[in-house]
Amino acid sequence: MVFQHECQGPGLVYTEDSDFKVRLFDLVSALARSLDMVSQTLAGHHTNVGFFASRIADFYGLSSFEKRNVVLAAMLHDIGAVSLYPAVDSLLFEDDTIKHSIAGSVIISSSKKLHDVSKLVEYHHTPWEELRERKKHYEISNIINLADFIDVNTRRDRPARHQIPVLIELCRKHSGTLFNPDYVEALRESEAKRNYYHRLHSARAEKTLTLSTQFDSDILDAEGVLDFTGLFAKVIDFRSRFTATHSQGVAVTSSVLGRWLGFNEVEQVFFQIAGRLHDIGKLAVPAALLEKNGRLTKEEFAIIQGHATYTEHILSGIPGLEVIRDWACQHHERIDGTGYPSGLAGRDISLGSRILQVADVFTAITEDRPYRRGMDFEQTTKVLRQLGDSEKLDPIVVEVLIERYDEINELRSKGQNQALEHFSNYSKVLYSKYGIVTKDVS
Ligand SMILES: [Fe+2]
Ligand SMILES: [Fe+2]
Ligand SMILES: [Fe+2]
Repeated sequence: MVFQHECQGPGLVYTEDSDFKVRLFDLVSALARSLDMVSQTLAGHHTNVGFFASRIADFYGLSSFEKRNVVLAAMLHDIGAVSLYPAVDSLLFEDDTIKHSIAGSVIISSSKKLHDVSKLVEYHHTPWEELRERKKHYEISNIINLADFIDVNTRRDRPARHQIPVLIELCRKHSGTLFNPDYVEALRESEAKRNYYHRLHSARAEKTLTLSTQFDSDILDAEGVLDFTGLFAKVIDFRSRFTATHSQGVAVTSSVLGRWLGFNEVEQVFFQIAGRLHDIGKLAVPAALLEKNGRLTKEEFAIIQGHATYTEHILSGIPGLEVIRDWACQHHERIDGTGYPSGLAGRDISLGSRILQVADVFTAITEDRPYRRGMDFEQTTKVLRQLGDSEKLDPIVVEVLIERYDEINELRSKGQNQALEHFSNYSKVLYSKYGIVTKDVS
């Protein structure tokens, strides 16, 4: 059964698979941007380390394949720290360099395209002496170590151009032990081209990095993007047990609703991608606030609402992903204009976004959370119909869902259980192999 919706509007795009192409580099760059939003201390860190790593790679003369791996790894290198700890207070992560390197590597290895990249992340704090002896194959990860050292030790409140030559001298003292002397030399040579310093710690670093890094062979279709977004979803869900598995619930539910409302197969994958990404902006919200049990103050509520704007900001830098970005970042808009962040109303909200909105509310009220059970059929239909009748949610999408409630609820629950299982497996691997304890999401 396929429903015909009067609001076909800008939502239905009927994209053929061959039209949809996204660069892996742009996705990694967006993920790096989202990691950098987690705390003030991290501001710009992954982008800057990617930038330095790319300079060192160029001056050293790495092959383009090696440069691709080292730059992608540099842009994601501390993903393990962001996932393991709710508050990331230090860029140094001194007492747990091994833990966050391994955790990051395990997370990244879940993306098919990034196997080699994950190995470089695993060794990004291993001294060069040790790499040379035991892990010669991953020696280039030492470039990330060096780039990280420079960025971590650059004070944000002073101009970078005065500090970096001094820091390079410091690196030379560790040359041959902590760092590969040839990489330090490449960094020193690139230092001679001073004109790039002023670009650091600004949006320009990102642009320069994009221009210098054309990995055009890494082009993904819809399935490839979906595979990659598993990484985004892991980072969001691992940071807050209240949102654990939520993204996957919205992904499954919206794609099923999309199918019932006439969207084609590629677009159904779009819904899965949008579902996995819709709350990525929550990375910019302090975890303590997301997990707060009591009533939220007005100010706290406003901070949480900000996540929708951050989602838009993170996804805006990915050419080709525009439709998915709009569906994802409009999940809190409401048809009567009372939603956020933009207060869109009526036909300005596409059918795709309306589906995301219903899927988000449905998943939120039916999923079990640590402090309450999910609602049953009667309660859920009552809440959804009230929202449909009062022109908050699209009444037709709501009715389509209620008509086949059991079917969609079972798929939602199955999808969320699978996500939970993935997380448990990840936690088990980290614990049994490396003694690393992750957060309890049960
Ligand atoms: Fe690190
Ligand atoms: Fe770092
Ligand atoms: Fe949200």
